[in-house]
Amino acid sequence: MSATSAAAKAAVTEPLFEPYQLGPTHLSNRMVMAPMTRSRAIEGNVPNPLAETYYRQRASAGLIITEASQVSPQGQGYIRTPGIHSPEQIAAWRKITGAVQRAGGKIFLQLWHVGRISHPDFHDGALPVAPSAIAPDGEVFTAQGPKKMVTPRALELSEIPGVVEQFRKGAENAKAAGFDGVEIHGANGYLLDQFTRDGSNHRTDAYGGPVENRVRLPLEVTRAVIDVWGKDRVGYRISPNGPFNSMSDSNPRETFSYLTQRLSELGIVYLHTFDPPSGANHLAPHLRKLFKGTFIVNGGYDKASGNAAIANGEADLVAYGVPFLANPDLPYRFSQEAALNAPDQATFYAGEAKGYTDYPALVG
Ligand SMILES: Cc1cc2nc3c(=O)[nH]c(=O)nc-3n(C[C@H](O)[C@H](O)[C@H](O)COP(=O)(O)O)c2cc1C
Repeated sequence: MSATSAAAKAAVTEPLFEPYQLGPTHLSNRMVMAPMTRSRAIEGNVPNPLAETYYRQRASAGLIITEASQVSPQGQGYIRTPGIHSPEQIAAWRKITGAVQRAGGKIFLQLWHVGRISHPDFHDGALPVAPSAIAPDGEVFTAQGPKKMVTPRALELSEIPGVVEQFRKGAENAKAAGFDGVEIHGANGYLLDQFTRDGSNHRTDAYGGPVENRVRLPLEVTRAVIDVWGKDRVGYRISPNGPFNSMSDSNPRETFSYLTQRLSELGIVYLHTFDPPSGANHLAPHLRKLFKGTFIVNGGYDKASGNAAIANGEADLVAYGVPFLANPDLPYRFSQEAALNAPDQATFYAGEAKGYTDYPALVG
């Protein structure tokens, strides 16, 4: 068999290369580019002009999920992360979505509010907001360098509708920017995750206490975003076991089963779970059974384990983070069994073109 026909055979027989219908969005394969912060936004937290090249280079992913993008100034906690709340940001994203779509790709924006993972330097000296006044450990990188995170201010009950509105507005802006849909960032210890897990939510009002209350804000946000986009263009990301950003929960299985069932009832198009199969208490296979829509897995997958996850019914789509960061042509490389570029960690969250748009591709 020639190399070309071997590749063609691989392409038709391997699950990762099958096309997939994500609601109204047609994906040319089942490989998703996971959301990745790259800390290269320019003045005004506007996406870097290079981001158009960066995302276009990766348009052979079945679906790209962008780096997390703050829905409001209050939602920011890292320097040089792009927003989706100003006209300049929308205009810059518009160029990126157009470039990806013209190259045949599909792209969702990840909607983000960091909550307590921030610093007063980002907020004219005001405290970051959170469900409860509980300080996370660690430092954030501000314009003046790394600074220890502070004890946040608990959101007043009266402020919560305003947070929902921030997400609604972000969703509207993403629509104006030409995205194919949006992913709500409910993972990795940011605001919605802070509400969901009881280590960071000690509220005693309708937004704290039992899991029904702790997921109230995440579900209100999801309904608001569905109002804008329709349920078949809205996804939600969780990291049920992730300790990142000082997160903990007394019963992750109960908490995330409940959230998954409610999200399933709302009918969102996908649930995206960062839950590496190697981890203790791996929950993804259990949550998969509770969610009727498309299920995306992520966390340390390679070609073989990604194919296996789809073949054995654990996932519909597989998201790849670092492999896509370092390999703009990852689907092609997988199809050819080609070697992968080594990721350069030093340029993950800083710099310009180096480690961003200069990873070599074998094609295109
Ligand atoms: C540089 C970098 C930035 C990331 N930024 C985000 C982000 O903005 N939003 C998010 O949900 N996850 C983020 N993640 C997590 C990735 O989406 C993904 O879960 C992680 O890399 C594990 O997948 P992998 O093993 O395929 O790389 C980031 C990871 C990396 C390496």
